[in-house]
Amino acid sequence: MKEALERIEAQAKTLLEQAQDTKALEELRLRFLGKKGELTAILKQMGKLSAEERPVIGQLANKVRADIEEAIASRAQNLKTELAQKRLAEEKLDVTLPGTHKKLGHAHPLSIVMREVEEIFLGMGFDIASGPEVEYDYYNFEALNLPKNHPARDTQDTFYITENILLRTQTSSVQVHVMENQKPPIRIISPGRVYRSDAVDATHSPLFHQIEGLVVDKGITMSDLVGTLDLLMKRLYGDDCKIRLRPHHFPFTEPSAEVDVMCFNCGGAGCRMCKGEGYIELLGAGMVHPKVLAGCGIDPEVYSGFAFGLGLERIAMRRFDIHDMRLLYENDLRFLEQF
Ligand code: DAH
Repeated sequence: MKEALERIEAQAKTLLEQAQDTKALEELRLRFLGKKGELTAILKQMGKLSAEERPVIGQLANKVRADIEEAIASRAQNLKTELAQKRLAEEKLDVTLPGTHKKLGHAHPLSIVMREVEEIFLGMGFDIASGPEVEYDYYNFEALNLPKNHPARDTQDTFYITENILLRTQTSSVQVHVMENQKPPIRIISPGRVYRSDAVDATHSPLFHQIEGLVVDKGITMSDLVGTLDLLMKRLYGDDCKIRLRPHHFPFTEPSAEVDVMCFNCGGAGCRMCKGEGYIELLGAGMVHPKVLAGCGIDPEVYSGFAFGLGLERIAMRRFDIHDMRLLYENDLRFLEQF
C-alpha cells in the first residue's frame, strides 16, 4: 500500500507538470483526489490493514494528499504566469514600426471662403439665416418686385417643379422670409445654393452659391452699405483693397449698384484678368425697395434697409486665383488638395 501511495504521488506530479490549462488541472485533481479518485480508492482499503500499519499508512496518505494539493496549486500559479507572459508576448507593440499614414480631408475651397465670410459678418453682429432651395415663385420673384412677365425674369430662368414652385435663382428670397417673420432691427446674411438653367462653362453653372445680406432698421443709408462692403472686402483681400460702386438696376432695390473690387492682379492699373478695367465685378447691392419692405409688413416711412448678394464662386475664384468654375465641382483631388 505504501508503494501504491508513492506511485500515485509520483504519477500525479509528472502529469501535473504536463498540464497546459486549468481544465486539465481540474481533471487531474478529480482523478487523484476526487471522491472516486485513486487516493480515495486506496484509503477505502485501509480497513484491511493491521492496527500498527494503519496510522503509518494514514499519515502517509495525508501527506500524499497534501503534496498533490500543493503541486496542483503551484502548477496553477505557474500556468497563470505563463499565460500572462504569453499574452504579453503576443500583444507586444513595436512602437518603432513605421505607422500607417491616415489621409485627412479638409474643407472644400467654397466652404473655406463661405466660413470666412460668415465669420466676418458674425463679427459685425449679423445672424445667419437660411431659406428653402425649393421655393414659391412668390418669394423668389413676386415679393421682390418681379411680377409675372417682368422682363428681368428672363435673365434668371430656372427649373420649375410646378407653375408656382421652382428652384430658387437667388438667395434674395430669404430676405422676404426673414422680413415676414422678424421685426427690425434686422441684420442677417444667408448663404446657400441657387439654381439657374444655364449651360456649364468656365463662368457658369446651373448650380452655384450666393450669400445674401440684409440690414433693416431706422435711419439705414447707402453709406452703411458702402462701409459694410468695404470692410468685408478689406478683410477678405487685404487692407489695400478698394471697392467701386456702379449704378445698376435690380427690381428689389432703389437705388441699386453693382460692386466691383480692385483687381488683385494689377492693383487697378488694368490687365488681362480684369479686361483692362482695373476692377472686377463681385456683387449686386442696393437700398431695399419700399415696395418690398411694405409687402413684408414693414413701414417704409419708418424703416429703411440695404441688401446685397455675393456670388460665392466668384469670391473663391478671385481669392484662390481659379480661372475655371468647373474645377470647383469636379471633385478632382489633384485640384482639391491644393487648398
Ligand atoms: N439677387 C441678385 C442676383 O442674383 C443679387 C442682388 C442684387 C442681391 C441686389 C441683393 C441686392 O440683395 O440688393 O443677381
